[in-house]
Amino acid sequence: MATTSVKEKDFMTVVRERRSVRHYDPAAKISREELSDMLKEAALAPSSSNLQPWRFLVFDDPAVKERLLPIANNQKQVVDAAAVIAVLGDVQGYENAPKVYKAAVEAGYMTKEIAQNMIERTLTGYSQIGREKLEHIALIDGGLVSMQLMLAAKARGYDTVPMGGFHADRLMQEFEIPERYVPVMLIAVGKAASPGHPTTRLPIEDITFWNGFAK
Ligand SMILES: Cc1cc2nc3c(=O)[nH]c(=O)nc-3n(C[C@H](O)[C@H](O)[C@H](O)COP(=O)(O)O)c2cc1C
Repeated sequence: MATTSVKEKDFMTVVRERRSVRHYDPAAKISREELSDMLKEAALAPSSSNLQPWRFLVFDDPAVKERLLPIANNQKQVVDAAAVIAVLGDVQGYENAPKVYKAAVEAGYMTKEIAQNMIERTLTGYSQIGREKLEHIALIDGGLVSMQLMLAAKARGYDTVPMGGFHADRLMQEFEIPERYVPVMLIAVGKAASPGHPTTRLPIEDITFWNGFAK
């Protein structure tokens, strides 16, 4: 899966060194092949019933990124980074259950009978749970794939910044995104022109509870 020229960093280095980078070298491009490799790595993330409801709308054309710029509050990384990936959640993603489970059968991971049972249960169950819950699932799965994409990029020597600062309704309209998709976040990916500023984290004792909240 990895492009051969890539010198991958070890996991702890990637996790510790990733920062949100907002200044990019506009001359540094990333090939579609390498972007696709990163997306493949990201898509190894887990998802509810393995339905993989994430979809990627990749902006790598400078003229198209200019159209995205005002929608993303004129955040300069949108035009300077090699690409911006709109991570979308597909509320009808569960309709891919037959494809997902047939692939598992072909790979020898489950029997035809088990797959058929899973397909029926998935299609029946997910089609009944309503748009709000499906969006909730798509946003959770979309968050997981987004994080994995940022780590995959960092491992390959690129930097990223996740962006929630954009107008979802205008994004949908401008790029004629069908209603079945919900925007999760935008992720700029490229070569840093300057490093991201360091940030701190809350002490682990403040955010962790063991075996319940009662003292
Ligand atoms: C969902 C989400 C939305 C964000 N939106 C923006 C944004 O619109 N613009 C921006 O510059 N940074 C944005 N950030 C980046 C955060 O500011 C950054 O992750 C946080 O300050 C921690 O810094 P670090 O990523 O360098 O560790 C966003 C992060 C997340 C997770």
